[in-house]
Amino acid sequence: MVKVCDDYLKLPGSYLFSTIGKKVNEFSVANPDKKIIRLGIGDVTRPLTPTIIKALHDAVDEMAVAETFRGYAPDLGYDFLRSAIAKNDYADRGCDIKDDEIFVSDGAKSDSGNIQEIFSKDCKIAVCDPVYPVYVDSNVMSGRAGSYVEKEGRFDKVIYMPCTKDTNFAPEIPDENPDIIYLCFPNNPTGATVPKSELQKWVDYANKIGAVIIYDAAYEAYISEDDVPHSIYECEGARTCAIELRSFSKNAGFTGVRLGFTVIPKDIEFDGVKLHALWARRHGTKYNGAPYIVQKAGEAVYSPEGKKEIRGLVDYYMRNASYILEGLKKAGYTVSGGVNAPYIWLKTPDKMTSWDFFDYLLNEVNVVGTPGAGFGPSGEGYFRLTAFGTYENTVEAVDRITKL
Ligand code: MLT
Repeated sequence: MVKVCDDYLKLPGSYLFSTIGKKVNEFSVANPDKKIIRLGIGDVTRPLTPTIIKALHDAVDEMAVAETFRGYAPDLGYDFLRSAIAKNDYADRGCDIKDDEIFVSDGAKSDSGNIQEIFSKDCKIAVCDPVYPVYVDSNVMSGRAGSYVEKEGRFDKVIYMPCTKDTNFAPEIPDENPDIIYLCFPNNPTGATVPKSELQKWVDYANKIGAVIIYDAAYEAYISEDDVPHSIYECEGARTCAIELRSFSKNAGFTGVRLGFTVIPKDIEFDGVKLHALWARRHGTKYNGAPYIVQKAGEAVYSPEGKKEIRGLVDYYMRNASYILEGLKKAGYTVSGGVNAPYIWLKTPDKMTSWDFFDYLLNEVNVVGTPGAGFGPSGEGYFRLTAFGTYENTVEAVDRITKL
């Protein structure tokens, strides 16, 4: 008889954003006359820009002609995209990353969930708390996280690094040494960042103890302050310890198009094995490459026109972010984030739990956010709003919340 993978059974409840989606749908069916404003999941609302649309159309036309038709994409990505990434995201920022250290994929969510496969089951992971749930959940599924301790809201083999207002929502070096350290800056969910000097400490620490950092930089395009690093490879020594994950979802609006990439420098080696070679083997076996049409759209993101348009998208969402930040501040809420990230992190009023505040906002003013507790125990008593709505809806949501 078949036995299921019992590691999956250790996961409490369903995926955070599925739970929220279900709750909102139920509310919507019961209250069909209410206009719900969704500032929960970080999904974009602006359409793809003209340069991207043209690149998509042109690539579709190429697929209609025998001479330019393409079948399987190269499994690690087309050269035209890998070299555009290496130049624009890395060389232009003074980072030494080669084209062939870039692995093109269908997005940072899958890469951040899959990357743990190349490490031993015995590796100990450290995560920020609160944290993007995919890092922990994917390690639970693969049997690396131990058992769930319900009353603590934690897995017993995971090192949680609390990111609270006392730490400026940044992690501190843990007492116990991990093997794999997940970092995400600008941070999802808190919107916090760290200066380059602070990130350098993590790189030095990882190199010293022989750990690897999985650095999620999906929100890099939202950085507005000078001292905030755009890539971990701005730090000295990162080539021997850091993997970086990037996405086209949040900067270029590709949440429904799907494109991202992972960088693994060839200098990262443990026990004589290069992680680059392992990921290439995994990619080649389990993945057939992002579609040509989508990779052409990705290339267009780096054209001069594309860059200008993408800047416009980011500016649009950041205008929403400051509207939420300022509006809630004026109304007496304790808020942070929203300066280098499209997320605003607020303390729930009157000591409400995160989920109570979620229900309260949904029922009273029909606004959806994300309960901080869904991101980990230190998120309890906090709530996340995204800046990815339309400007009009954002203004209306802040208006409704501040009148409560
Ligand atoms: C979020 O809301 O945290 C993100 O949209 C989730 C994701 O990017 O997968």
